[in-house]
Amino acid sequence: IQDFNHIIAERQGAIALITFNRPKVLNALCTALIAELETALALIEADDSLSVIVVTGNEKAFAAGADITEMANSLFTDVFAADIGGPRWQRLANFRKPAIAAVAGYALGGGCEIALMCDIILAADNAKFGQPEITIGTIPGWGGSQRLTRAIGKYKAMDLILTGRQINAEEAERAGMVSRIVPLADLVPEALKLAEKIASLSAPIAMLAREAVDSALETTLSEGLKAERRLFHASFATQDQKEGMAAFLEKRPPAFQNK
Ligand code: CAA
Repeated sequence: IQDFNHIIAERQGAIALITFNRPKVLNALCTALIAELETALALIEADDSLSVIVVTGNEKAFAAGADITEMANSLFTDVFAADIGGPRWQRLANFRKPAIAAVAGYALGGGCEIALMCDIILAADNAKFGQPEITIGTIPGWGGSQRLTRAIGKYKAMDLILTGRQINAEEAERAGMVSRIVPLADLVPEALKLAEKIASLSAPIAMLAREAVDSALETTLSEGLKAERRLFHASFATQDQKEGMAAFLEKRPPAFQNK
């Protein structure tokens, strides 16, 4: 898709595969990496031939958090002026196409928060999630206290955020923040397979669907139900709705045109 220093952004058919690429520091998420991710996401969002994104790391680490060496000597005025954790860091949460996090190894701090910005979290059996910020004298700052709490509830989130302890893939799945667990060797192939399944369906309908689900986390039940209804109504303005329902009635597979 484009050459970067800290991430690899590849095209695999309709799938964009983004791999964090700072293996020596367990993919610590430095500001330059976040800026590259922001650029890559804008390119992918604008490219009609790409409909789903998979974000991954390596076998040892999805990402072990924000880059501590970069932050250690920051003053309040520095982090406030740069608005660390602000819109640039939240770009993945505001990405409009389906996003899958494929997590192996450590997803800690900002790494866990980046995974939580995705629509689906696929975990390898060696995945470890946690918000260890309290152990280094700070708190989650890229959405962890909010998205983790919405994902797993107050009491489990407090357990993680107040102790900094790590949970394995099974505990994370039980808690509701992992969609599926797969063997480590199958992680990226399974993530691509899942992405291809989504990409084989209608891209505009998938965008409507993920926006509807996100409404559940953003607003009240009555506002969310209204948003869902309007998005459902909007699906009837697409060719893919006509095609999908006609194909069902004609007992043939649908040929979605992504329109
Ligand atoms: N930032 C910068 N460097 C990091 C890093 C991070 N978050 N995590 C790991 N590294 C570096 C280590 O300093 C080490 O570098 P050197 O080889 O130069 O010493 C290298 O990666 C390998 O790490 P370890 O030797 O520590 O590996 P390990 O297997 O013994 O331990 C670990 C793995 C438990 C994940 C440990 O590295 C660790 O605790 N990392 C920090 C986790 C953390 O606190 N993350 C939260 C960051 S703050 C944050 O994310 C704020 C926010 O809300 C956005």
